[in-house]
Amino acid sequence: MSQLWSKAGITKGLSRRNLLKSGLKVAAGIEMGAFFSALEEFNGTEVQGARYDSVKNGPLHVPDLSAISGTKSLKAHAEAHSLLYGSGVDAVRLRSEPGYAELVSSQCDIIAAENDMKWYALRPSPSSFNFDMADWLVSYCEKNKIKLRGHVLVWDKGLPPWFTEFANTGNARQLLMTHIQQVVGRYAGRMHSWDVVNEVIDVGGSGRVDSLRNSPWLQLVGADYIELAFRTARDADPTALLTYNEYGIELETPEQEEKRAMVLLLLRRLKARQTPIDALGIQSHLGPVTRGEYGEGLRRFMAAVRQMEMQVFITELDVNDKGLQAATHERDEIVAATYSAYLNSVLPERAITTVMTWGITDRYSWQNNMPNPNRTDRLPSRPLLFDAEYRAKPAFFAVRDSFDQRKLTQAGSNDPMLAPQVDPYAPFNPVQSR
Ligand code: XIL
Repeated sequence: MSQLWSKAGITKGLSRRNLLKSGLKVAAGIEMGAFFSALEEFNGTEVQGARYDSVKNGPLHVPDLSAISGTKSLKAHAEAHSLLYGSGVDAVRLRSEPGYAELVSSQCDIIAAENDMKWYALRPSPSSFNFDMADWLVSYCEKNKIKLRGHVLVWDKGLPPWFTEFANTGNARQLLMTHIQQVVGRYAGRMHSWDVVNEVIDVGGSGRVDSLRNSPWLQLVGADYIELAFRTARDADPTALLTYNEYGIELETPEQEEKRAMVLLLLRRLKARQTPIDALGIQSHLGPVTRGEYGEGLRRFMAAVRQMEMQVFITELDVNDKGLQAATHERDEIVAATYSAYLNSVLPERAITTVMTWGITDRYSWQNNMPNPNRTDRLPSRPLLFDAEYRAKPAFFAVRDSFDQRKLTQAGSNDPMLAPQVDPYAPFNPVQSR
């Protein structure tokens, strides 16, 4: 079952309460049950084809991008404020659609492999690798001078169908290490960064004092799999920035504050043990919310991460419009306002060096590639910066303006307590502490 997409993995910050609290024009009757059952049928291995018909079969007139290219592009505005801008992409799109490739290269400093470097994509069997798409993507990025983020080496999802049957306590440690050695080693020196470990804190469901998710890796390798993954990745490629990536840590709710605390504890523990880790990825799959929802808790958290000498990457930013009323114009405005509210709240943090959206056009958003519609009205979702015909939406201008308005906070002005230099999990020793 672990390779199936799950409720927990997708409801990031999208609870009915958050949507209703937002005070925006949110449809009250959200069919969460239907949405979840659609998702439960969803298997990551089917991702490459399924689209809404209305999106898939729609006309594709690639507009003239000149008014938003060059100095007017997202990447130019990002770079002017010490940021990289980028997007998650599937290689097949770049490969088969010149218009899409043009859009990506006009706007992006960096792309992330949205699916092509997941286990199910790279591992047809326990003993083999298929690097065709990943190799193509790495060369494409080099040819086009686009940086590349690898995604993802250790996750409880995106695993191949053989995994559950094959992996056991006797072979899982070696399986994990071999995978990282082969994959990271193959592209050594050519990657901007790797998502080494993804989504391992599960505050509600874990039942453990450290809130580690009850994933196959925890069960089969033991709690040191996280550290092992980072060390193996560093050995295989000393130059890529190694990232821990997490969701559900963006909002000012008690649940998300608690999750931030547990992520911080994990990072401190890893750092205290000299684990090689360079960056925290904050996924940022947002629901439509007002400004008040983003704030101090997240900013304190990022400052604490900075004090551990880590960078912060916004890795998978998008705005789910599922609960919003149908009128396209209104939806687009609320989505844009959400991008502004979030980015204006977080971008003063100077540890943030990269902002990536999870896709660039609504045409290929993961929110439109479920087997059943995301929206109950079956209209395509509009979560990204360009519409399905590659026209810039209000969200594009909102993001670009947020880059322009970036004013970094001064060093020391909002520093939280210093990160402890010792392992917070070390056994208490009364003799030493006297
Ligand atoms: C999603 C992709 O966007 C989809 O195309 C795929 O079908 C499922 O996975 N968190 C992650 C990403 O870390 O890998 C997920 O990507 C979205 C949530």
